[in-house]
Formats: sequence, C-alpha cells, structure tokens
Amino acid sequence: MSASIPNEFIDELLNRIDIYDVVAPRVTLKKAGKDYSGLCPFHNENTPSFTVSQQKQFFHCFGCGQSGSAIRFLMEFEGLDFVDAVKELAEQAGVEVPLKQVNKQQHRERTNLYAITEKVTRIYQQHLKNNQKIIDYIKNRGIDGKTCQTFQIGFAEDSWDGISKRFPQDQQELLDRCGLLSHSNQKSYDKFRNRLMFPIHDRRGRVIAFGGRAVDDEQQPKYLNSPETDLFHKGRELYGYHLARKHSSEDFVIVVEGYMDVVALHQHGIKNTVATLGTATSTEHIALLFKTWTKVVFCFDGDSAGQKAAKKALLTALPLYLDDKIIEFLFLPEDQDPDSYVNQNGQHGFLQQLQSAVPLSQFLMDIISEGIQLNTLDGKAQLHERAKSYLKQLPHGAFRQIMHDNVANISGITHARSKKPNQQKRPDNGQLNPMRRLLSLILNKPALCEKLPDDLDFTLLPYKGAEIINKMIEIQAGYPQINSAALLEHFRNSDYVSNLSRLMVVYDHMDETELTSEMDDLVAHLEQLTTTSKINQLREKQLQDGLTDQEKQQLIALLTKKIK
Ligand code: CTP
Ligand code: MN
Repeated sequence: MSASIPNEFIDELLNRIDIYDVVAPRVTLKKAGKDYSGLCPFHNENTPSFTVSQQKQFFHCFGCGQSGSAIRFLMEFEGLDFVDAVKELAEQAGVEVPLKQVNKQQHRERTNLYAITEKVTRIYQQHLKNNQKIIDYIKNRGIDGKTCQTFQIGFAEDSWDGISKRFPQDQQELLDRCGLLSHSNQKSYDKFRNRLMFPIHDRRGRVIAFGGRAVDDEQQPKYLNSPETDLFHKGRELYGYHLARKHSSEDFVIVVEGYMDVVALHQHGIKNTVATLGTATSTEHIALLFKTWTKVVFCFDGDSAGQKAAKKALLTALPLYLDDKIIEFLFLPEDQDPDSYVNQNGQHGFLQQLQSAVPLSQFLMDIISEGIQLNTLDGKAQLHERAKSYLKQLPHGAFRQIMHDNVANISGITHARSKKPNQQKRPDNGQLNPMRRLLSLILNKPALCEKLPDDLDFTLLPYKGAEIINKMIEIQAGYPQINSAALLEHFRNSDYVSNLSRLMVVYDHMDETELTSEMDDLVAHLEQLTTTSKINQLREKQLQDGLTDQEKQQLIALLTKKIK
C-alpha cells in the first residue's frame, strides 16, 4: 500500500514537520551537541544511545540500530503501518494525504467485492436457517444461535449454483474475483458446496474470504478455504481478530489453530482468541497482535504435530520478542484441541489450563537443550553452539542478555564481553570506499549533490552503488530542499535501506562546513579515479582495436586533465 502515496508528498511532509516535535512528546530528549539524545524507546538501556538529528530529520539508536524518519518513528512507537503513520503526520501538519488515481479506482473495485462477499454471507446464513440437519450438527457441537450470529456462520447448499444463480451475469466475474467459483472445461460453478461456512473477516469486520467445513464424513478435504484474492492474503489475516479486538483491555490474546476453536472459546466467554488460517503463524501476525496486546499465548494440541507447529511459531517469534512483550506456549493434553477442551472443562477449566503455559524463555531453553546430555563436556559445547544460532535472532536487550547468561551458566562457556554489550559499531569514514563515502555524504546533506560535476561517470568506478547515487541525484534535482530522512524514504522498499541507514550516521560528528569541504575533497578524488579509469579503458582499446579520432582527442584531454 505504501506505493499509493506519491513520493513527492512524503518529501514535502517530511520537510514541513520537525522530527523533534514528533519524538519529544514520547521520549525525554536532552540537547547533545547539535543533536538530541535520550533513552531508546525500542530497547532497554540505562545510558542514552538514542539520538535525534533535526538537521537530518532522522533518529538513530546506536544500541539497537533502529533508525529512520519521523514516519518510521511513529510506525515503530505507535505500531502503525506506513500509510497510517503518514496520515497521522499529515494531520499534525494540517495537510491532506493525496491518494493516487489508480488507487481510487482500486478502492472502488474493492468496494464492489465487499458487496459481493456480504451478500454471499447472507445467502449462506439463509441456507443454514432452512436446513435442520445442519442446525442439529451445529447444536451437537455446542454452538448456540447467538454465537452463530456473531460469527455469521452459514451453510453452502449441496448444489453447483446455489450462489452463482443468485447473481446476474455481469457480476459473475466479481464472484470469481472473490474466489467463490471453480472452473472446469470452460464451465464455472460454486466452489463451496455442502459445507458449513465460516466467513473470514478483516480488521474492520468486513467479509474477505470463507472457510468451509465438510459436513459428511467422506467429504474431502475436511476444510476448504478461499484462495488468495485481492481482498484476502492469508499470512496477514487472523480468524476472529475483529471480535478479539473488542477485548483489547485484556492483557493477553490466545492464538489457536482452528475456526471451531475460536468459536467454542468465544461461546465460553473467552473472546480474546484468534486463529491462523490453516497456515503457520507469520511475523506479520505476531506484529499485529503486539499492537493491541502485550502478551500472546500460543495454544497447541498436545500431539507431535502441535509440538512441531509450536517450534515453528517460536522461530517466527524470536526476532520480534522485545523486552516489554510476553509470549507463552500452552500445550493441551494429548488428543485435545481448545474446542474439545473447553467443551469438556468449561471456561474455568480452560483458564486453569492456561496457567500451565510456559514462557518463551523456558520453551526456548527446552528446545536448545533437547536431546543434549548436559552433564558431559561435549554436551555443554553442543548446547553452546546450538544456543548461538537461536539467540542471535533475538533483538538486543535485557532478555537476550538473560538468555546468554542462562546458557553460559549451564555450559560453563562465557563470551568475552565488552563493557557495553549491545553497542553497535559506529562506522568510520576511513573504512569506507569512496562510493560509500559519497553515499554517506549525500544522505547527510542531500544538497551536496549539487557539487557533483555532470560528467562524473560513477559506472567507471570499481565499486557498487552507481545506480543508487544516480537515483539520489535525480531525486535531489527534482526537489532541491529535500532532507536526509525524506531521501532515505525513497528507498524504503529496497533491499538497501538498512545499509543506507547505517551510512546515514557516518558523518554525524561533522558540521555543515566540514561536510562541504569533505565533499570537495571527495569530488576531486572521484574525478581522479574516474579519469584514470577512463584513460585505462581508452588505452586498452588503443591496443586492441585502435581509437577513433574522437576518442584520441578524448584521451589527450583526459591526460591533460590528469596532469593538472
Ligand atoms: N485446516 C485447513 N485445511 C484442512 C485442514 C485444516 O485449512 N484441510 C485448518 C482449518 O483452519 C482448521 C485448522 O486447520 O480449523 C485445524 O484443523 P483440524 O485440527 O483438522 O480441525 P479442527 O479445527 O479441529 O476442526 P473440527 O473441530 O471441526 O474437526
Ligand atoms: Mn476440533
């Protein structure tokens, strides 16, 4: 969605607002030289490594490495997505966010799709009302009418066109785009037939897809889900999220595997529950949940499949595990899922079971030491090695340190630790190749682009990055007053963004005059390098195929330039 806001608008916005005004109400800042510093809000620390530069409109933490523009800060601090962070800043600045024309069109088309899924949901609900056998099935599974209503549970008739016949010819394509049709031999027919239907809602409660459960034993597969469509991206959605969100005052949310698990827990009054949709938990899922709740309890069946799924969830969760968040794992007794467990033991029984959930730290230690004989030296070394690969995925902070200490205690192997354990190395301009120095300088002060001679050909240099430099020059030419953070935002979707953020702080210690003279030196150096490289190219050609008159003149000019 980020592409939906024109870059020019973001340049302007980041020019108009001041990152200091965005950060200062949220983090206590003290003036430190030309910048501000404070305790980093993104990791635990006692001495400030978080800095805010007004000149660059950029924040950076030397402890945990978080960095970026005011937009990034809001995204991280408030848990907003890109578009919402831009909207919030725009509101503060009193300007309106323009959405691109194509997106208005897309928006209209989406609206049409929602109208289809809503109507289909109602038809399924109607079918259910007319079918006593299915009503009995639902009752047998312990679901009452009210819960059915809440989840808009319905039934797809055992018919090839129960849905399609209810829509005019010119809407069949929309039905298809909602993933509701199947095709064979140029014929289209209803995808869902003879199934109990669970509508899947988005965050705002709109129906975006369906899950259909077989109602006859021989029917395969047991669950049939909508394919990915314009409305539905599996890795992003969680079943029941829109209802669970209403219980955001609870400090935890339970993640289960199945539709019926969510429905049954809800029916028993445990409403802060969501399910992944037949896929593994994704980082997007976890990030989404942590926006609302501080604790996530993953609930798995007590069998080996449950163990496997839990390990997968653990690996996904590690990089997102911040000190102020809690993740727990609940393993139910063998052959039980949350649905059956709560039906047998009631709300109280389930909540009691919840008490036996193990914290991530313990589950992690269990996995790290799984199958290792800790009383042998070999075992200890093995533990140490295995721990390394897991622990390096954790974000820097107190928790990571505690886990390191834990492992060190058990294995008897300690790391040589510097005094400041989590400090990132501040890159030094002396270690950088000329191209990277140029990138850093431009990122520090985009107007320095104007000092680059037009005929400087970066592609002649034996370093990577010519493409990015040229792009930056083009961007700066299009908007000469662009600031550092806005320039960086142009690369937000590229693979380079983290590298560029690091280069952003190389010249932190220099003031504007020093930057300018550094640029002058560098330009001279680059001209020399490119001249030499061009001369070598021409000489090579001279030896191989000879030079044209024009090239000869060029060579002479270059040689004179070099001598000067
Ligand atoms: N699932 C799926 N496709 C399948 C099987 C399962 O998408 N062929 C997903 C569904 O979201 C389902 C969840 O995985 O809810 C768990 O599957 P399972 O444990 O088999 O079903 P239950 O949720 O226990 O459903 P029920 O109680 O109705 O048997
Ligand atoms: Mn079940």
